[in-house]
Amino acid sequence: MNDVPARPKRRTRGAARLLLGGACALAITVSSMALTTFARADLSGPPGTTLKAAAERSGRYFGAAMGSDRLTDSGFLTIASREFDMMTAVNEMKPDATEPNAGQFDFRRGDAIYNWANERGMRFRGHTLAWHGQQPRFWGSLSGSALRAAMISHINGVMAHYKGKFAYWDVVNEAYAENGSRRSSNLQATGNDWIEVAFRTARAADPSVKLCYNDYNIENWTYAKTQGVYNLIKDFKARGVPVDCVGLQTHFTGGSSLPGNFQQTLSSFAALGVDVALTEADVTNASTSQYQGLTQACMNVPRCVGITTWGIRDSDSWRGSENPLLFDRNSNPKAAYTAVLNALNAASTTVPGTPPTTAPPTTAPPTTAPPTTAPPTTAPPTTAPPTTAPPTTAPPGACSGTYRMVNSWNGGFQGEVTVANNGSATLSGWTVRLTLAGGQTIANVWSGINTGTSGTVSVRNADYNGSLGANASTTFGFLVNGSSTTAPSGLSCTSP
Ligand code: XIL
Repeated sequence: MNDVPARPKRRTRGAARLLLGGACALAITVSSMALTTFARADLSGPPGTTLKAAAERSGRYFGAAMGSDRLTDSGFLTIASREFDMMTAVNEMKPDATEPNAGQFDFRRGDAIYNWANERGMRFRGHTLAWHGQQPRFWGSLSGSALRAAMISHINGVMAHYKGKFAYWDVVNEAYAENGSRRSSNLQATGNDWIEVAFRTARAADPSVKLCYNDYNIENWTYAKTQGVYNLIKDFKARGVPVDCVGLQTHFTGGSSLPGNFQQTLSSFAALGVDVALTEADVTNASTSQYQGLTQACMNVPRCVGITTWGIRDSDSWRGSENPLLFDRNSNPKAAYTAVLNALNAASTTVPGTPPTTAPPTTAPPTTAPPTTAPPTTAPPTTAPPTTAPPTTAPPGACSGTYRMVNSWNGGFQGEVTVANNGSATLSGWTVRLTLAGGQTIANVWSGINTGTSGTVSVRNADYNGSLGANASTTFGFLVNGSSTTAPSGLSCTSP
């Protein structure tokens, strides 16, 4: 997060009056047992003396973003663990970092940040899965259905890795232009439904995490871009597209400062049935009045679930020359820190204990079943009825495979197979065979290793999901190019 590359340029571009904005999203309480949950809000308790304690009084969180280079910075880590209870990776979970080459994922730096935060009881917000910026180089040579498939495969690959661990994921980042229409990008060129497909894919990949749309310059209610994003969320809610939260990045500069109607923006989004959050806050010269005002606006809106600053000290900021954060370069809290702390302590609304929202309309059942560690992704093997295709079961004692279609589009579809151990002995390794319909070709497989791409194909376990305890299950996914969505036939599973 230290450099200020390309970004500011882009920002100033069309946003003259307004500012930077930026968003990321978030949401609220989490059902997964793997996630740290907070004590219920209690406004009658004593004021908090740290940002997180003050935020938790009203059921909110106070977050920061960090790069993996900060893991050896004891000054940073001291403040981070004392003051913050939500963490975000600045760059380490962006598409170019997590999938540098097609199908080759790298979670080392992201995991290091996540593990550090998780060990300290912090929650985590993933940032980000689909974005016009910081894309893997190989996306640059793709377009159309191939890029669409790469995006879907990326979302699946990354979300499978962090399944059950995060409170929020920024599924789509910065997809709108300043004039309120879609930003033109290679992802947008794959078809206007790309955002919707990203969210549906994400819901199916991890039903336990809240799915957020994140953007900047959407703080001013009367600004065209704010209205564009508002209409997107409104449409998604009306049509049952799974979205749980909107992140407002809240980058305030000299030119675009805190708008007087910020609270109206927050409450208007919240009224659509999503959580809202301030996801990347920083303010030129750490204006005390603006920090006080943005915090108070959030505290006044029950579904504003928390605030994240984009870094901790000015020396951590991507806008470092503007000294926009709550701590100076010597780790001392600034006047703005005290203003934020007081505003958090003065909160008069609490976050409603909302359960995770709507189940995916098109996909699978487990609204409740929290993935603890291993993935009970789809249906509990013994009870729930398969939504789509009938399971083909192998002889008792071995494994079985159940197919479902997760998503489809013109020219292809995404499939998933749940591999279950129906016996009482642990299986070490599995292989699923299935036969694709004529004209169908597999473009990508994740959480499994395939042999063949058309006709009869076999998929064996990946390194990390071959061991299946009694009654345990796992899933693998794949993308198919072809004119039909006919389900694969002859599904069978064997275990050595
Ligand atoms: C920024 C990082 O802080 C920089 O280190 C990087 O060079 C560019 O990206 N909105 C977002 C964030 O959603 O991902 C951006 O982070 C800041 C603006």
